[in-house]
Amino acid sequence: MSAVTHMLATDLDGTFVGDTNGLKLLINYYESLPYEVTLVYITGRHLESATSLIKEENLPIPKLLVTDVGTSIYEGDTWQADPKWQKKMKKDWNPDAIRAVAKDFPQIRVQQLPDDRRVSFQIEADNSSALAGKFKMALETAGIAHKFIFSSGRDIDILPTGSGKGEALRFIVEKYTNSDTSILVAGDSGNDLEMLTLGYPSVIVANSQEELLEIEEHPKLYRATKNCAGGIHEAWMHFYG
Ligand code: GLC
Ligand code: MG
Repeated sequence: MSAVTHMLATDLDGTFVGDTNGLKLLINYYESLPYEVTLVYITGRHLESATSLIKEENLPIPKLLVTDVGTSIYEGDTWQADPKWQKKMKKDWNPDAIRAVAKDFPQIRVQQLPDDRRVSFQIEADNSSALAGKFKMALETAGIAHKFIFSSGRDIDILPTGSGKGEALRFIVEKYTNSDTSILVAGDSGNDLEMLTLGYPSVIVANSQEELLEIEEHPKLYRATKNCAGGIHEAWMHFYG
């Protein structure tokens, strides 16, 4: 990869994707710039689901695609996994123990995923936040090493401890950028919280989920007035326009 001068690290659903006009505006704007903006997609979806979305929505092929809430990093185009990151994900990872604890929570339904690199659930209950809290406590009490991510008042992702969208982005920034690279991070829900609070210029798009309202204000954190990609465009102008 040639020197990365500018990078957009963005979530897909509800952030980069979700408003067709906003996305057209952003892509046209990037094409009009005298520099290249390197794209990194960081999604909760698994690889096949993410690449299907890229095709369906006709999204630009990114330089890197991070899937499964930060548990996998792939090169754009060939979708070759980063071996160093994949090795790191194996440390202290015990998906069977996580599923065993989940059996005590009938309202927490396991998501059907192609593999075990994360264990994810959906809660179908009115008191989803309280229930998620109890599940988290039960995992802690059982002494199971994990990272717990709750998004959209519904999804729970249990990840290896060194994982998550924030850790994956930190790894990418170290590997692919230098201190002069201009970065923008964009997200809309709980699984984005970690990467939005690393200290890089970041945007919370206007249509964000409630759980992002609690993030502490910070000079590098921009709350867009526009939804999805329109909000990313607005933030790009704010930081780098
Ligand atoms: C996406 C994924 C789902 C995950 C959720 C939250 O919707 O498809 O598996 O739980 O993001 O990260
Ligand atoms: Mg999202």
